[in-house]
Amino acid sequence: MTQDELKQKVAQAAMHYIKDVAIVGVGTGSTVKHFINYLANIKGDIEGAVSSSEMSTAQLKSVGIPVLDLNAVGTLDVYVDGADEVTPHKHMVKGGGGALTREKIIGAASKKFICIVDETKCVDVLGKFPLPVEVVPMARSYVAREMVKLGGQPVWRENFITDNHNVILDVHNLDIIDPIKLEQIINNITGVVCVGIFAMRPADVVLVGKGTEVITL
Ligand code: A5P
Repeated sequence: MTQDELKQKVAQAAMHYIKDVAIVGVGTGSTVKHFINYLANIKGDIEGAVSSSEMSTAQLKSVGIPVLDLNAVGTLDVYVDGADEVTPHKHMVKGGGGALTREKIIGAASKKFICIVDETKCVDVLGKFPLPVEVVPMARSYVAREMVKLGGQPVWRENFITDNHNVILDVHNLDIIDPIKLEQIINNITGVVCVGIFAMRPADVVLVGKGTEVITL
C-alpha cells in the first residue's frame, strides 16, 4: 500500500468512532482530507463539524457539511486529526500544516481525541520532525533566541502566515525526552501562541495504518 492509501485506510477506520456523534471535531492535513470525504457520506446523520483550519473549513463546506463555531457548541464528543509524530504514550508533534493552535484548542475541548496516522509517523522519542511553534510576529526573533537557549535550531517558515495571522518557527534538533515539561516551558515563553507538542493533552486513541492493516494504540 502507498502512504496515501494507508492514510485513507486509517481515515476510514476513524469513522467507527463517529457513530451517534452529532458534531465532529475535524483536524487538518492530507490524512484528514480523506476523513472529510468519508464524513461526507454520512452528512445526513450529523449536525456539522468544528474545523481546525480554513483549509478544512473549505473542504467541509464543499462537501456540504455545516461548519459550526466551537463557542456555540460546547464540549465535543470526538476530535479526529493527524499528526507529524506520535509516540507509544500517544504524545504528538503537530503543526506541519501550520494549524496547531486551533488543533490544540479543539483537542482541549473534546472528550476523545482520535489520532490517525500512517506508520511513518510512529516514533519512540519526539523531535526528529522539526517542532512547529506559532509566534506573534513581533516576537519572532526573541522567541528564536529562546529556542536556541533550549538547544534547538529555529527556522522561520518564510512566506507562511497562520489562520490566526501569526508566524511559525520550525525548531530543529530538540531532544524531546520529557514532552510534557518542554510543552510547559515553551508555552511560558512570551510571544509564543502555541507549541506543536501535544503531550499535556495526548491522544486517547491512535489509529496506525501499517502494512495492510489498521492497528489501534
Ligand atoms: C496540521 O497542522 C498538522 O498538525 C497535521 O495534523 C499534521 O501535519 C499531519 O498531516 P498529514 O496528515 O498531512 O500528514
